[in-house]
Amino acid sequence: MQKRLVWDLPVRLFHWILAISLVVQWFTAEVIENAMDFHFYLGYFILGLIIFRLIWGFIGTKYAKFSSFIAGPKAMLAYLRALMNREDTSTIGHNPVGGLMLPLVLTLVGIQAVTGLFTSDDIVHSGPYYDSVSSSVQKTLQWLHHQTFSFLWIFVAIHIVAILWYKFALKHDLIRPMFNGKKVVTEQQAIANSQLLKAVILMVVVAVFVYWLVEINPPIPEDDFYY
Ligand code: HEM
Ligand code: HEM
Repeated sequence: MQKRLVWDLPVRLFHWILAISLVVQWFTAEVIENAMDFHFYLGYFILGLIIFRLIWGFIGTKYAKFSSFIAGPKAMLAYLRALMNREDTSTIGHNPVGGLMLPLVLTLVGIQAVTGLFTSDDIVHSGPYYDSVSSSVQKTLQWLHHQTFSFLWIFVAIHIVAILWYKFALKHDLIRPMFNGKKVVTEQQAIANSQLLKAVILMVVVAVFVYWLVEINPPIPEDDFYY
């Protein structure tokens, strides 16, 4: 047994870039003035990240795949029971409960990014699809854009507390492998490489799709002003 690759580079980059982007997104909306343009562009980028990770969950490396960590309630309960009894609960990829974080984040951040497309600051900045829905739909989606973020922070807080608990209470460091991708495993358990060519092709396809979605496809807003 020696340190070998478990988390591919796309998963690690996705994780840390997403975490930083979400903090920046909050600042650009709540703290920094006149940062709405940047908020929009970073929002489009995050939408791309989410679509990328969703597809990578089907075509990525072994431990990046949903099929390797999505567990039923029975497995989750058994895992929690073992954890309470301080039995050895280490898994190579995500554990049955921690594995919930990815679908949760993909859903909540996905909602955040999509509702942003229909949101306006009621001054000068409107998402590219703001004008394509009725005003009641605009209000609902804007409301969702405001509320979803609070939910997200609750899960992020639980996530960070759990990771720190593993590190300090169980003496099990999950953080370093999220940086260098490596854990102590056998050769059969490790992944051979990060499948970077596949990841780059997927990245380009997703970038083209997001560009089409936010720049080419949106309806041209009706002119409200007459000169
Ligand atoms: C906005 C902040 C954050 C978000 C949205 C977030 C989200 C996520 C998601 C979605 C995963 C699953 C990764 C995947 O399979 O692609 C994950 C895993 C992980 N995160 Fe975070 N994270 C955040 C902050 C942090 C921080 C600050 C730390 C370090 C203290 C951390 C440590 C980890 C670790 C160690 C894992 C792997 C857990 C395992 O081994 O199963 N995360 N996180
Ligand atoms: C996942 C990406 C995104 C995150 C995390 C995010 C987060 C936020 C947050 C926290 C707020 C402040 C809400 C409040 O005041 O309660 C906000 C406001 C706003 N967001 Fe986003 N956003 C994202 C994507 C987008 C996108 C893609 C657009 C537009 C294309 C957008 C447009 C707006 C607008 C116009 C506001 C201002 C609403 C107001 O002033 O009432 N957001 N966003």
